[in-house]
Amino acid sequence: MKRALVRIVDWGHELLSEVVHMGELVVDLTAGTGQDTLALYKMVGATGQVVAFDIQSQALSATANRLLVAGAQVRLQQRDIYPLQSQPGVDLLKMSHADISTVLTAAPKGIIANLGYLPGGEKELITRPESTVLALRQSCSLLAPGGRLALTVYPGHPGGAEEGAAVNKFFAELDDSRFHVLQMKVCNRLQAPYLFILEKRI
Ligand SMILES: C[S@@+](CC[C@H](N)C(=O)[O-])C[C@H]1O[C@@H](n2cnc3c(N)ncnc32)[C@H](O)[C@@H]1O
Repeated sequence: MKRALVRIVDWGHELLSEVVHMGELVVDLTAGTGQDTLALYKMVGATGQVVAFDIQSQALSATANRLLVAGAQVRLQQRDIYPLQSQPGVDLLKMSHADISTVLTAAPKGIIANLGYLPGGEKELITRPESTVLALRQSCSLLAPGGRLALTVYPGHPGGAEEGAAVNKFFAELDDSRFHVLQMKVCNRLQAPYLFILEKRI
């Protein structure tokens, strides 16, 4: 199938699907409306486990609805779960991704994050550089060898460029002997979102 070249979120899904298989554990750091959570669910199927974080109930409800329509077994966790049980299905956690390592003990094969604000939601409730970098640091450590992380930065909204700078710095400083990191960017569109794909070397 021919892809729309500039749809970078789709490239993120595509590059994750190369390493993520049925039955595996995957994580969505920013559930939002659940499009990425659904894409992950399709990669791991009913025997896999998808863990999705968001700080907004509205986002988790939208994600739950989308996943239920797809036939997934959904567990909506409104309180902290330490640690999260390893079991098939979709766990939706109302908590910051900055605390990912307090709930996750197993190694995910794929991790996705779409930064910014909830589409159709309050534009002030955005992801923030400090918590994003904390989540990325823990994600790199948790990720299974050979696993990949796909992250999309949206520099166009207030605070987006600053967050992008923090994320760029984080990836640029990673040890090349442990991680491969690729950046994908639309070069001829101002403030276009851009994608990072990280792979943990085996
Ligand atoms: C651009 S949206 C995500 C889009 C989503 N992946 C989708 O498929 O629709 C960003 C989301 O990150 C959430 N968010 C902001 N800060 C967060 C944090 N510290 N931890 C987890 N989620 C956060 C927002 O509430 C928002 O829903």
